[in-house]
Amino acid sequence: MDLQQQFEAVFAGIPYGNSGDNLLEANVIHGCVVNHDFAKVSIILEEDSALRHSLPSQIEEALKGISEINRVAVEIFAEAPPDEEEKPNSEPQRPAQQPQRSAYLQNYENVIAVASGKGGVGKSTVAVNLALALAKKGYKVSLFDADIYGPSLPIMMGLRNAKPEIVGNKLIPISKHGIDMLSIGNLVDEASAMIWRGPMVNQALEQMLRDTRWPGGDFMILDLPPGTGDAQLTLSQTVEIAGAVIVSTPQDVALLDAAKAVAMFEKVDIDIVGIVENMSSFVCPHCQKETPIFSSNGAQKESEKLDVPFLGSIPIELAVRQGGDEGKPLMTEKGDSAAGKAFSAIAENIIKSLETL
Ligand SMILES: Nc1ncnc2c1ncn2[C@@H]1O[C@H](COP(=O)(O)OP(=O)(O)OP(=O)(O)O)[C@@H](O)[C@H]1O
Ligand SMILES: [Mg+2]
Repeated sequence: MDLQQQFEAVFAGIPYGNSGDNLLEANVIHGCVVNHDFAKVSIILEEDSALRHSLPSQIEEALKGISEINRVAVEIFAEAPPDEEEKPNSEPQRPAQQPQRSAYLQNYENVIAVASGKGGVGKSTVAVNLALALAKKGYKVSLFDADIYGPSLPIMMGLRNAKPEIVGNKLIPISKHGIDMLSIGNLVDEASAMIWRGPMVNQALEQMLRDTRWPGGDFMILDLPPGTGDAQLTLSQTVEIAGAVIVSTPQDVALLDAAKAVAMFEKVDIDIVGIVENMSSFVCPHCQKETPIFSSNGAQKESEKLDVPFLGSIPIELAVRQGGDEGKPLMTEKGDSAAGKAFSAIAENIIKSLETL
């Protein structure tokens, strides 16, 4: 049994009062973060619930039965998620007319999600270089790694092992290459185990949005995990996203997934800024012959079919991959290569597309 299954077994083994349900069935567990031998669990129990006294110690004891876990903290919320900022103590509480939905990142002109249906098509590469291309044009840009399971921005931005400062109880995004960024990879030790279930991903994302002093500016670029899962949903519900940029390679399989991603964003009422075709062809550095390794123009045709803007194609370039691996993104050094020019043009096209949305 992996750690996640062991946690689930523990939660499933604890009854929720006399309801007949266990903690998982009753949706009591809001989040859980594991760092080495420490587990922090947040649970949701109503203000007057009698279980507030007994349940935390019960959870603690049961989790300590897992051999890797020695320390446990249980946090109780009356409802999910709490938002400390919106309730200064001095202000009398106004009765809520309708359920309040928290909106984060409101100090950005445009929040842009970089997404794809399929993994490994170059979302993070596009997010990083796009952020840099926009910054080069004079915009104030931040970058947020919304990929909780597989954060890649610390490495790509050259911020491996960098830790954000904490001022008051807020995280301060890390500045690099003229951009302010934050990733779960900068908060949790690379070697430490993390387990996340759907609601826990939500909680981690929300914490990083809520408990971070984001400086605001023209653009916030969100690097999303692949697929159409929980992170996408949480962000669409908690952040006012100006639009999604869908990254795809030109092959049929990737395009099918791109279409799925477009459909998902449309379902949650997020506009599509357009489709970017990545790894569209390879130009031999020796003979200049162009080879469409993943076929070509597929994404352009697909965007016509889906009736969304086509933002441009990025060729396969060794320097793109190297820049990502070495923490010196292409746009910081080789912005005048074919791929660099493509990123720059895509940034322009995104600005144009945003104006029409
Ligand atoms: N245009 C390109 N030329 C060369 N290499 C590229 C290009 N685009 C991306 N890569 C490389 O492909 C790999 C995958 O890219 P990346 O991590 O950006 O994809 P992703 O879609 O974010 O993946 P995941 O779904 O895992 O988050 C990386 O090694 C990256 O350097
Ligand atoms: Mg990625």
